Amino acid sequence: MPNPIPQHVAIIMDGNGRWAKKQGLLRVQGHEVGVQRIEEIIQAAQDKGIRYLTLYAFSKENWRRPKDEVAFLMGLLSAYLDKKIETLIKNNCVFNVIGEIGDLAEFLQKKLTQAMENSRKNTGLVVTFALSYSSRREILRACQKIAEQAVRGEIEPSGINEETFSANLYTAGMPDPELLIRTSGEFRISNFLLWQISYAELYITQKCWPEFTRDEFEKALEDYKGRERRFGDTCAVTGGKT
Ligand code: IPE
Ligand code: IPE
Ligand code: MG
Repeated sequence: MPNPIPQHVAIIMDGNGRWAKKQGLLRVQGHEVGVQRIEEIIQAAQDKGIRYLTLYAFSKENWRRPKDEVAFLMGLLSAYLDKKIETLIKNNCVFNVIGEIGDLAEFLQKKLTQAMENSRKNTGLVVTFALSYSSRREILRACQKIAEQAVRGEIEPSGINEETFSANLYTAGMPDPELLIRTSGEFRISNFLLWQISYAELYITQKCWPEFTRDEFEKALEDYKGRERRFGDTCAVTGGKT
């Protein structure tokens, strides 16, 4: 039996710079086209009935990039929030952010909070942007929160289990991604959702993010359908156990 459509798809949107270079464009032009793909893939995910779409947009490590590029990316985020969020909210999407949002400029933090607030009552696709995100930092933060609960006597160390741990991550309340897509052909995770992807199916495509159209997304979903998900067993386990 083919796997059902995944509930949660996570994407490492990589390769904007390399794509731009191949076209004889500037790296930042690659980022601009990348934003168009974000809109397209959100729409495609909605049409497919996916419940959660988590997009790696900017890592904690991406702050190391040249100042100009970082400023450009922040400008794109700001423009996206100004121009595109309204439609997303009208389409019944819930807008969500994970990562160290306090690292962003205050005006961006305000726009992000406003967008999350305005979409809170929606019931459709949950679109999560990972911004200034580091999975290791997320895990450390969860450890600190749990340790504080233990110090306050609210939890016994022996009572800490996978559920308690997941509940203290940024992704609390979300199912783990069943499918993780990475564009531009790199075989690495780059500090993304390390805990959450323990049994995710990986789909790596040579296409760069600006080339990752609805068709490419559908190919990934088709590929996922045929994966044998074993979860340590000797044969396929159905029912979406994670
Ligand atoms: C992904 O494209 C966008 C971000 C990481 C912000 P890149 O900018 O990493 O493009 P490449 O990997 O250099 O081609
Ligand atoms: C991962 O891409 C982060 C995002 C897509 C936002 P990078 O381009 O930063 O990853 P590395 O440096 O190639 O591992
Ligand atoms: Mg990259």
